[in-house]
Amino acid sequence: MRITVFGATGNVGSRVVAEALARGHEVTAVVRDPAKPHGLPATAALTVGDAGDPEDVTRISAGQDVVITATRPAPGREHELSVATKGLLAGVAGTGVRLLAVGGAGSLTVPGAGGTTLVETPDFPAEIRSIALACSEQLDLYRAAGEDVDWTYLSPAALLEPGVRTGRFRLGRDELLVDAAGDSAISMEDLAVALLDEVEQPAHRRSRFTAAY
Ligand SMILES: NC(=O)c1ccc[n+]([C@@H]2O[C@H](COP(=O)([O-])OP(=O)(O)OC[C@H]3O[C@@H](n4cnc5c(N)ncnc54)[C@H](OP(=O)(O)O)[C@@H]3O)[C@@H](O)[C@H]2O)c1
Repeated sequence: MRITVFGATGNVGSRVVAEALARGHEVTAVVRDPAKPHGLPATAALTVGDAGDPEDVTRISAGQDVVITATRPAPGREHELSVATKGLLAGVAGTGVRLLAVGGAGSLTVPGAGGTTLVETPDFPAEIRSIALACSEQLDLYRAAGEDVDWTYLSPAALLEPGVRTGRFRLGRDELLVDAAGDSAISMEDLAVALLDEVEQPAHRRSRFTAAY
């Protein structure tokens, strides 16, 4: 398949690019600044664009099967996530190109907590509250998108870090997945596996899903 990745130079995006290439897909990596070292594999095509610009999104996604976005604004600029989200949604609307977004875990409900979301819990870390709230707004924008957008939103586990690719994890929908010890985690490599599985075998069209050990 032809897959374009926004946020390709990031922690998650670079692993998505690697997983997609390993599966034999034709990958286009979007960078904002071509002069900045990107460290992407030579087998990925590079193109320049900004997720917040609907014209860039339409131009770059033309002829693609799927657009994946794993963008994250710099700390203090969390409001830019909604600009990027609106640009992506407007840019693919009506084109038939599928849009898959890596978002946040904060909007997942906590098991047994009567509908309370993770970001609403008293122990939620203050330093990631702004990005978590921005990601909740991001999910709201996806859910409000018109019927002409074929979207899927992937919320990671609470702890998402570089690690190893095991290919073994569980999938859920709107509730945080926790293991027997009460932990919620997944490696970025396995999150990329979950995302590429969804690309190849769509099971969560116009909805959110989550992946965790
Ligand atoms: N447990 C969790 O819920 C959890 C934990 C970690 C991450 N996440 C989520 O995972 C996603 C990716 O995070 P990350 O840690 O991989 O981020 P990251 O390493 O900071 O990378 C962010 C990427 O986004 C790009 N970018 C930002 N704004 C853009 C725009 N308007 N247009 C195009 N590209 C843009 C950056 O490009 P430049 O190089 O041009 O700046 C960079 O490639 C985010 O949605 C984040 O919230 C969730």
